[in-house]
Amino acid sequence: MAPGVLAGSAVSDTTLPDFVPETQQTAANRNAEQLFSLAGTTTVVTGGGRGLGITLARAIVEAGGHAACLDVLPEPSTEEWASLEKVAKRSGLTASYYRCDITQEEELSRVFKEVDDKAKQHNAPLKGTVACAGIQQKVPALDYPAGDFERMLRVNVTGAFLTAKQAARVMVDNGTGGSIVLIASMSGNIANRGLTCTAYNSSKAAVQQMCRSVAQEWGQYGIRVNTLSPGYIRTAMTDALLQAEPEVEKTWMAGALLGRLGAPEDFKAPIVFLLGPGSSFMTGADLRVDGGHCASA
Ligand SMILES: NC(=O)c1ccc[n+]([C@@H]2O[C@H](COP(=O)([O-])OP(=O)(O)OC[C@H]3O[C@@H](n4cnc5c(N)ncnc54)[C@H](O)[C@@H]3O)[C@@H](O)[C@H]2O)c1
Repeated sequence: MAPGVLAGSAVSDTTLPDFVPETQQTAANRNAEQLFSLAGTTTVVTGGGRGLGITLARAIVEAGGHAACLDVLPEPSTEEWASLEKVAKRSGLTASYYRCDITQEEELSRVFKEVDDKAKQHNAPLKGTVACAGIQQKVPALDYPAGDFERMLRVNVTGAFLTAKQAARVMVDNGTGGSIVLIASMSGNIANRGLTCTAYNSSKAAVQQMCRSVAQEWGQYGIRVNTLSPGYIRTAMTDALLQAEPEVEKTWMAGALLGRLGAPEDFKAPIVFLLGPGSSFMTGADLRVDGGHCASA
């Protein structure tokens, strides 16, 4: 059969675009384990120095991929990093750390190039990127200073965009296609009770729309872009909020249909699914994982 002709198609001359993503060619031949494997790939994780990001990097390594973590922190979280490196070494994989500010495009571009070079040396092309770096701030809207609002958008929106853009540039140049996951939030869809976070919520709604926009531009290169929207997760980000106002936890728990808040580990399976061949027909979509929070009022 000529390349690009759909097998079993009623219309025999139906052709696919010139670029056929690897996942599309092979998805039908993979078993369930292979559909959740990241073997032979490298994935960048921004915000990979702690919290959700470092846990997602661990999931990537556990699924057989190399992970490159980027963060503004001088060093990643000691204990979690040591554990991640151990898992990587055991499997003959690498976990590398780069100090990098995602709002600085030149810096980001340099790091992506370095990761891409190493990925080629490992024969594991850079085919995944998770834009997880983000900031949060609680300020009543009536008092929100313009400078703070702009800083939120700069990190959470522009930073996520620059990350996706750099990743896509590498994937287009290499002709490999790939999967980009932007970490949004259920706050992109709802306004959280008890939280005065207008700038944050606006930034996450922007990330969800950015996903749809770039997905429609980059599908032609075999690049899939999706958002993963978590509900409340106990991390340094939310601990700071709860320490300042412990009573807020009661409001959050009122919407927790499974009787608990999330943990970073709840997102390991979703990220492996979104990065891997199991989601090869999914792009421009949002996967909300929130313990049922948005399902009830
Ligand atoms: N914790 C939650 O309840 C929750 C819920 C929904 C979505 N999220 C999202 O998940 C992501 C991770 O959040 P987390 O809870 O792990 O928070 P966190 O604060 O523990 O981690 C965020 C990381 O991003 C890094 N970062 C911030 N600005 C950066 C920059 N300019 N350049 C590079 N790195 C930068 C921080 O240093 C930090 O390591 C964020 O995008 C957040 O909005 C979190």
